Amino acid sequence: MNIGVVGCGAISGIYIENLSRSKAVHIRATADLDPARARLAAERCSAQAMSVDALIDSPEIDLVLNLTTPNAHEQVARRAVEAGKHVYNEKPLCIEPKAARSLLALAERKGVRVGCAPDTVLGAGVQTCRQLVADGQIGQVVGGGAFMLCPGHESWHPNPAFYYKQGGGPALDMGPYYVTALVTILGPVTRVRSCATMTRRERTITSEPRRGERITVEVPTHCVGLLEFGSGACVSVTLSFDVHRSRWGDIEIWGTQGSLAVPDPNTFAGPVRLFRAGADDWEEMPLIDAPVHNARGLGVEDMALAIAEGKAHRASGTLALHVLEVLDALTRSGTVEL
Ligand SMILES: NC(=O)c1ccc[n+]([C@@H]2O[C@H](COP(=O)([O-])OP(=O)(O)OC[C@H]3O[C@@H](n4cnc5c(N)ncnc54)[C@H](O)[C@@H]3O)[C@@H](O)[C@H]2O)c1
Repeated sequence: MNIGVVGCGAISGIYIENLSRSKAVHIRATADLDPARARLAAERCSAQAMSVDALIDSPEIDLVLNLTTPNAHEQVARRAVEAGKHVYNEKPLCIEPKAARSLLALAERKGVRVGCAPDTVLGAGVQTCRQLVADGQIGQVVGGGAFMLCPGHESWHPNPAFYYKQGGGPALDMGPYYVTALVTILGPVTRVRSCATMTRRERTITSEPRRGERITVEVPTHCVGLLEFGSGACVSVTLSFDVHRSRWGDIEIWGTQGSLAVPDPNTFAGPVRLFRAGADDWEEMPLIDAPVHNARGLGVEDMALAIAEGKAHRASGTLALHVLEVLDALTRSGTVEL
């Protein structure tokens, strides 16, 4: 399957590195609003740099890998789908669930697939947890906690403004890793209760090259919620760009027979720790046979192979829409039934 990459910024490097080695897909073209970035990316994978329109309309391209900033995810994806191409978006699928639903409906009419990051949940860490829960190793799941607590991305990302605009914030930026992992392990969410706040209206960039520039914040930066799952489990979630440091982190799941410590869902690896009721301590569990390295692009390969074999792909638009509905609810204080 021939791929065209649209959006050649920070995250494109690891996708290009991994997918250049893939036997399932070939990167044929790159495009960016900034042609110099597209050229640089093209050089790294012996592809051709093009304009966005030329790439999407090219008969050579089967699948558009959309690595643009969140504000462009919907527009680029719709354009690709309208041109009859499969599309795989970086997260979030779109800024709003309504737009994501409309994108999936369009793709269905056009007979093309939509995939979406994160594919970290296909890695050994989360897949081992999914298997342990499915095997009843912690009994019936009662609840758990998921915490993504950091001071924000303006200290390291070269161009961090988008993290504070619509489509950014801790919920839509980091939340996809946490909620996709929870849904992968526990199944769908049926109700979200939440409280969301915007702590500061302005942030100052401390990374280079934009050090000292101010960002006007447009989204909540501290989102706290309770997720009720169809299984009956109730999980508390805090996603925040307002915490300097915390000893809480990642995800724990608590069951009638024990507890499970889920590794950082922004990685593919472990460790996975299980505490069995009555034991003295946690035990580190062996990981199932799945990637442990930074395998970003795995979801794209999985989608390409699934299309070829007529099977469902795993990092799907449908899953990403459900996750987006949950995250959208977390950015609005109140209760949302899904
Ligand atoms: N940076 C990370 O560590 C990281 C990690 C995981 C996921 N992501 C996700 O990847 C996506 C991109 O993030 P990034 O950090 O690479 O951002 P970035 O700003 O470094 O790069 C985005 C690129 O997209 C281009 N672009 C924007 N709108 C476009 C359009 N309409 N058409 C063509 N090109 C367009 C920009 O010119 C830019 O080069 C985001 O959705 C982000 O959430 C980023």
